[in-house]
Amino acid sequence: MNTHVKESHASEIRSGRRFKFGSNWKRFLRVLNGERISEAEKSLKEFLEVEDLEGKTFIDIGSGSGLFSLVARRLGARVLSFDYDPQSVACTAELRHRYFGEDPNWNILSGSVLDREFLESLGQFDIVYSWGVLHHTGAMWPALENIKLNSKVGSKLFIAIYNDCGDVSTYWMKKKITYNKLPVLLKLPYAIAVWTPIEARYFLHYLRNKNVAGYFSLWTEYKKSRGMSRWHDMIDWIGGYPYEYASSQQLIDFYEKDGFKLRKILPNDGYGCHQLVFERLS
Ligand SMILES: C[S@@+](CC[C@H](N)C(=O)[O-])C[C@H]1O[C@@H](n2cnc3c(N)ncnc32)[C@H](O)[C@@H]1O
Repeated sequence: MNTHVKESHASEIRSGRRFKFGSNWKRFLRVLNGERISEAEKSLKEFLEVEDLEGKTFIDIGSGSGLFSLVARRLGARVLSFDYDPQSVACTAELRHRYFGEDPNWNILSGSVLDREFLESLGQFDIVYSWGVLHHTGAMWPALENIKLNSKVGSKLFIAIYNDCGDVSTYWMKKKITYNKLPVLLKLPYAIAVWTPIEARYFLHYLRNKNVAGYFSLWTEYKKSRGMSRWHDMIDWIGGYPYEYASSQQLIDFYEKDGFKLRKILPNDGYGCHQLVFERLS
């Protein structure tokens, strides 16, 4: 474990400037099963428009639970995963251990995407994957710039970044700051208090449409969204800080000016993530 990374992460947590993403992922691993892994695999294949990743190299920047590193490895890629949160690194190592033992084709490191020297030491990859990460670094634009270092010509770069929703984004920023400043014991009650009115609106919407079953399927069918869990995503959303956002056009312009071409996009009109896949042409 990189001690410098560990110490700077711990100091951000102590001062309430960072959400413990890794703790949330650790809880998520308790509900991870074959069905969720298959959904995650399906989503990655669809987005990258591939059947497998045999012979490819794949870097998972901000690997979180490690689920997408696992999926890339299952699809045949040689994988390098890293994260800034020691518990996310531990989760990724746990998934490698569970499903691939001490596999030499899956390396896991502790590091920050804001550290250019570290990124340069990793080399270049066929697939650069950083889903829902760079807006949580505290320096999103430098992070978006840095990952170009790991993209070889001809590679695919797959990112997901929160949409800029103006005042709505500012509202959520305040909620996230409050969550992270609270003592541990108050975090969960706060998250529930913030989310309950939103959940009640969902429920009433389905009730009015005489479709209560539809409301429950929001929970039961959520795994179809990249194998994720609605509960853990909700905690990640309320706590997820640092937090930044961008419009999809800003992201497209940022990469296309530097030899990347947009190949696929799923824009988000709400406060969720835009998903974009670029190909590096030069
Ligand atoms: C919302 S999770 C996304 C996890 C995973 N990519 C996925 O798609 O499920 C964000 C992850 O980014 C990591 N992260 C935040 N800042 C980082 C940094 N500077 N360098 C690397 N990882 C970072 C967090 O620790 C966390 O595990």
